[in-house]
Amino acid sequence: MSQKKRFALITGSGRGLGRELAIVFARNGYDIILHGRNKKDLATTKTEIDKEGAVCDLCAADLSTDSGLRKIYRMIRFREIAVFVNNAGAHCPHLGLEEITDGQIDEMITTNLTAPIKLSREIYRQFLKKSAGALININSVCGLEARGLRTIYAASKWGLRGFSESLRLEAAEKGIRIIDVYPTRIRTKPVFREGMSPKAVAQKIFNFFRNTDSSRLMLDERKSAKKQK
Ligand SMILES: NC(=O)c1ccc[n+]([C@@H]2O[C@H](COP(=O)([O-])OP(=O)(O)OC[C@H]3O[C@@H](n4cnc5c(N)ncnc54)[C@H](OP(=O)(O)O)[C@@H]3O)[C@@H](O)[C@H]2O)c1
Repeated sequence: MSQKKRFALITGSGRGLGRELAIVFARNGYDIILHGRNKKDLATTKTEIDKEGAVCDLCAADLSTDSGLRKIYRMIRFREIAVFVNNAGAHCPHLGLEEITDGQIDEMITTNLTAPIKLSREIYRQFLKKSAGALININSVCGLEARGLRTIYAASKWGLRGFSESLRLEAAEKGIRIIDVYPTRIRTKPVFREGMSPKAVAQKIFNFFRNTDSSRLMLDERKSAKKQK
C-alpha cells in the first residue's frame, strides 16, 4: 500500500534525533513536514529529504510562543497528517532546584509538555475525522525514573507520559495509535560522548511503528551494554 502524499510531521527535525526520524520516514514513503527554529538546519535537512524523493515542507516556528504554535496549526490545516512525532525537546544543564530560573522552568515545561499537548489536540481532531493516524511521543527514561538534578525535565516528561497514556484510553477503538518512546542517552551532541546512535534509534522507532502494534518502546543502552558483558 502506498503511503505517498501523507505527511509525517516531526517537531525539532532540523537536527538531532528528529532529523534522523525525518530521513527514515521519507525513505519509507512519507512526505515530511520539517519543524524547528533554526532555518539553516531545516534547509540542510531538507536536502537529505529531497534525496529520498519525498515532498518536504518547512515550518520554522518556536514552540514556546503562541504565534509559533499558530504557524504550525496553519501548516497542518491543508495537509493530511498520517504521523505526528512529538520530538522537539528542551534540555537543561544538571542543576539543583534552588539554582533553576523561572525562564528555564518555563522553557522546559512549555516545549516538552504544553506545546506537545496543544499540537496533539489539533492533529487528534484531524485523526478523529478519518479514524486513522499515529502519534509518537519521544519521551525519555527520565519520564519513568526519578532523577536528581533533573527535576523540571523529569516533571515535563512524567507529564507527557501521563498525557499520552491517558489519551491512549480515549483513542482506543478510534483507529488512532499512540506510541511512547523511552530512550536512555542518545549521542545527539558532541558533548554526549556515550549513548546510542541517533540514526540507529530513529530506525528502531520506525521499525517499531511499522512492524508492531505495541504502544511503548524502551530503548535502553544500559541493558544492551549489560548483555554484551
Ligand atoms: N539526546 C538524548 O540523550 C535523549 C535521551 C532521551 C530522550 N531524548 C528526547 O529526544 C528528543 C530529541 O532529543 P535530541 O537530543 O535530538 O535534541 P536536540 O539535539 O537538542 O534537538 C532538539 C530539537 O528540538 C528543537 N527545539 C527545541 N526547543 C524548541 C522550541 N522552543 N521551538 C521549536 N523547536 C525547538 C530544536 O530545534 P532548533 O534547534 O531549530 O531550535 C531541535 O531540533 C527530545 O524530546 C529529548 O527530550 C533525548
